[in-house]
Amino acid sequence: MAGGGKRVAVLMGGWSAEREVSLVSGEAVTRALRERGYDVNPIDVGPHVGVALAELQPEVVFNALHGRFGEDGCIQGVLEMMGLPYTHSGVLASALAMDKPLALALFRDAGLRVAKGRLAHRDEILAGAVMEPPYVVKPTNEGSSVGVIIVHDRDDNPFARGEWQYRDSHVLVEQYIPGRELAAAVMNGRALGVVEIKVNGAEFYDYQAKYRPGGSMHEMPARLSPVAYKACMEIAETAHRRLGCRGVTRVDLRYDEAAGEVDGLYLLEINSQPGMTPTSLVPEIAAHNGINFGALVEWMVEDAGCRR
Ligand SMILES: Nc1ncnc2c1ncn2[C@@H]1O[C@H](COP(=O)(O)OP(=O)(O)O)[C@@H](O)[C@H]1O
Ligand SMILES: [Mg+2]
Repeated sequence: MAGGGKRVAVLMGGWSAEREVSLVSGEAVTRALRERGYDVNPIDVGPHVGVALAELQPEVVFNALHGRFGEDGCIQGVLEMMGLPYTHSGVLASALAMDKPLALALFRDAGLRVAKGRLAHRDEILAGAVMEPPYVVKPTNEGSSVGVIIVHDRDDNPFARGEWQYRDSHVLVEQYIPGRELAAAVMNGRALGVVEIKVNGAEFYDYQAKYRPGGSMHEMPARLSPVAYKACMEIAETAHRRLGCRGVTRVDLRYDEAAGEVDGLYLLEINSQPGMTPTSLVPEIAAHNGINFGALVEWMVEDAGCRR
């Protein structure tokens, strides 16, 4: 069998806001790798994950974590120190991808179009009207739309009662980009395809829309003009390369067609640890390219590396 009994540790869970999502990703990966003949050892990650890894001595670590510690370079640093080959991006690329303001600065530097925005202090946000509405408020380093709020007009300041839901004193405020929601997958530096997400009964692609059954519909491939489709693929590859990402990533975009066939494409972010449930976007895009879920996770295990 393909896996040949290779010992793989699957890191999942953790204690970030995206713990539940990671458990689903990790279970799906575990099942698929077992079917492919790997000796798979799931680990629900806690602060002493290094001890569990030292005992297990895996040949490869499949990182199915999302969010803080799992996606931000921390666990990648532990694995580097232990000399254990791991999937996805390295320490620096992971840290950059997780820090939205830094990643956006690098994307701008690479000539990619991103929404106009800036870091704003708690006091400014609480006072309201930090930017001409509509605008978006989001934490600098979360995922799964956790803490993302859209402010439509001056009268609907969601912070008017002085409630601060964020851990940090600064958050990102961005001009709201109307239009369509797109995502592109990158594998080994090459864009695989673009999917459109259509949200059911939610204001935007929020946590519920992402994970509630029926919360959203995916159209793969996205119905775009060939020119716009190609532009999305190029944006995704440039973003992946600019941060120095490895393995598989997912790039999130907004498309305001009224602003132009290509000029209406806005890069929101890159995810260095994209969701890996069988119904997640990256597996869906890969499947459209003839790479089924098992083949995708197998490629990731065989591509795992260290010293980067
Ligand atoms: N500037 C924006 N304009 C319009 N919608 C946005 C904007 N920023 C975020 N959103 C909405 O919020 C979602 C989550 O934002 P994103 O930047 O991708 O952060 P996360 O890491 O939480 O996924 C997006 O998929 C989109 O639906
Ligand atoms: Mg996103």
